[in-house]
Amino acid sequence: MRYIKVFNRRSGPPRPLYLTRPPGTPVTLFVTLEGIDGTGKTTLAKSLADRLQDRGYDVVRTKEPTDCWLGEAVRRAVDEDEDPRIQALLFLADRSLHQEKIEEWLSLGRVVLCDRYHDSTLAYQTVALEGKVDRPREWLERASAFLSLEPDLTLLLLLDPAEGLARIATRARSPFERAAFLTKVQRAYEEMAVPPRFVKLDATLPPEELAEAAERSVLQRLQA
Ligand code: TYD
Repeated sequence: MRYIKVFNRRSGPPRPLYLTRPPGTPVTLFVTLEGIDGTGKTTLAKSLADRLQDRGYDVVRTKEPTDCWLGEAVRRAVDEDEDPRIQALLFLADRSLHQEKIEEWLSLGRVVLCDRYHDSTLAYQTVALEGKVDRPREWLERASAFLSLEPDLTLLLLLDPAEGLARIATRARSPFERAAFLTKVQRAYEEMAVPPRFVKLDATLPPEELAEAAERSVLQRLQA
């Protein structure tokens, strides 16, 4: 491993940083951030992206639902309490377009940080589809057979659902943001969270400590 000393130009007094890779070397890693609403994924994605950029990695930060028209359709279907089957298919359609972009970024040797991806569908829609289809998990797996992209690392933020809801109390609530629903979603996440792809993080940690723990997990994979 070669270490290169550079200076952090982003904020505050300059502090030396040690790049763990020579500039210009393509590095590819697909990282997803998952967890129930209110866990602080978006804040974490921002600080993690800054930290990795400071170390010289070429990072793309992205999210689902996306900002394209299919993401808009997803939000509308959720807000209008559309049939959960339609909602699930729209999440998958949005992902289908997004997947092409992610594959392109990865092919350019970039690190992709995605705020929610397919595990969100497996966790949320398995619960939302209860009583609508026979075996929700199987239904979702069949419907998403086209997905070919598996994250290299998934950071799962865990938090008591009541605390998550308290944190987002002032913003408009989506129909998913109810304690009983989110308790089931979190249970579904925990059942899926098999290492080595999944790393669980305690979302009650102070933001800087959480970002540091997340950065450590990403660097471990990047330097493996
Ligand atoms: P969220 O990350 O809160 O997006 P935004 O901040 O743009 O509104 O996602 C919106 C809601 O959609 C959130 O409650 C989680 C849910 N969701 C699913 O149910 N399935 C999915 O596949 C995704 C990506 C999100």
